[in-house]
Amino acid sequence: MNSNELLPEALQGSSLKLKDNPSATKTLFIESYGCQMNFSDSEIVASILQNEGYTTTTQAGSADLILVNTCAIRDNAEIRVRQRLQDYKKIKSKSDKPVLIGVLGCMAERLKKQFLEEERLVDVVVGPDAYRDLPRLLHEAESGRQSINVLLSKEETYADIAPLRLDQNGVSGFVSIMRGCDNMCSFCVVPFTRGRERSRDPQSILQECEDAYNQGYREITLLGQNVDSYKFSSNTGIALFSDLLKLIAEHLPNLWIRFSTSHPKDMTDDVLQVMALYPNICKYIHLPVQSGSDSVLERMNRGYTSAWYLNRIKAIRHFIPDCAISTDIITGFCGENPSDHQETLQLMKTVNFDFAYMFMYSERPKTLAERKYTDDVPETEKHIRLQEVIALQREHSKNALQKYVGTNQWVLIEGDSKKSNAFWMGRNSQNAVVIFPKLDEKKGDRVNVSITSSTYTALLGNRIL
Ligand code: SAH
Ligand code: SF4
Ligand code: F3S
Repeated sequence: MNSNELLPEALQGSSLKLKDNPSATKTLFIESYGCQMNFSDSEIVASILQNEGYTTTTQAGSADLILVNTCAIRDNAEIRVRQRLQDYKKIKSKSDKPVLIGVLGCMAERLKKQFLEEERLVDVVVGPDAYRDLPRLLHEAESGRQSINVLLSKEETYADIAPLRLDQNGVSGFVSIMRGCDNMCSFCVVPFTRGRERSRDPQSILQECEDAYNQGYREITLLGQNVDSYKFSSNTGIALFSDLLKLIAEHLPNLWIRFSTSHPKDMTDDVLQVMALYPNICKYIHLPVQSGSDSVLERMNRGYTSAWYLNRIKAIRHFIPDCAISTDIITGFCGENPSDHQETLQLMKTVNFDFAYMFMYSERPKTLAERKYTDDVPETEKHIRLQEVIALQREHSKNALQKYVGTNQWVLIEGDSKKSNAFWMGRNSQNAVVIFPKLDEKKGDRVNVSITSSTYTALLGNRIL
């Protein structure tokens, strides 16, 4: 799931503000890095700690507990976290009250005890499947002992924990539907940090969506590393991802539904057919391709060829002609030669993605690629290729947005535009950002906007009354 996505980078370093809890005695500062899954996990952590009497602050300097929910996907993600931990260590040493520092998430899982050993940077280390144990771990740390739980689970889905919706925009929220990943893409650290794949009970997912709707949310994104392989078995039968989509779409017709991330090898037509059938399932699919070269895809262990991928694109366009498609691309993977790179550019031209997240390959310890292949593309070359991919995508994104000029689009209002509070910012079903002048609407309204122009990143227009 990147990365609608996951937008892995999109949520980096966001600090979260919890709703006030009058009986709270201690304050928590929590910062999340990485993908939406981590962000969603922070809401579970916040809920667990609210029951322990914590309320939050956006000021790390005044907190009793500082938690950093970390990402290990690329080396630079880890470097950023280490810098933050140094900052927090300084805050702790200057504070005149006891402060605990905890590291959560994927980097905690990857480094385990090493975190406790390194210059006593942190007091508590907790992996993604061990958040229920946080109260005990914190008590242990309060009594001066460093504490750690990085056990991975085959069952944990936190299904019964109502996440504490953190102060995002109050309109679009996340709901985790599965955890872990059983794919072994050779470049990827996620199977090591998140463990085996498991799906959450559909009824608890539906309940959480309904609760979010009753709290004012008008859009939810169903999250998983590979949502297409969602599968929940019970006495009453097996629910697949298409069944889950249908269940939510039918029960909550006024809620927009998004999901992330889809894996090309598991993306089946039944999902596309359900998407086409329900207007409240947004017409947007994030389908990471990673590379356009078959030999690179094979070394990546992605389980599909470029022809298979293009066939999936064809199926999307067949069932949902107005569907927007985004992707993830890695440049400079082991053994990628100039002609492999050209094949990636060619595939991009063939598909014409609406949007893409693009990365240079970063070797991760213990992954299949690290053990089996040589990270042999020089950094400068990785960088040049990345720039070429970015430049091409920039044009494609611009053209994709231009297509909407002259049309009317239903837009869900998320909040003020970044540049001016005289304008709203929202998104259409295809996830394109739309900016338009305010009239008497409010946040969370869905309004019809006539699109008059576009930029590289957004659509501009006026509400149709
Ligand atoms: N489960 C999602 C991806 C999660 S990670 C999926 O399979 O699509 C999000 C993205 O980060 C990946 O799609 C990939 O493009 C990128 N990524 C993962 N590992 C990486 C690495 N070692 N170096 C560079 N990019 C990486
Ligand atoms: Fe990583 Fe592949 Fe799993 Fe995505 S599907 S999380 S890229 S191993
Ligand atoms: Fe997400 Fe980063 Fe972990 S992308 S799953 S937080 S390694």
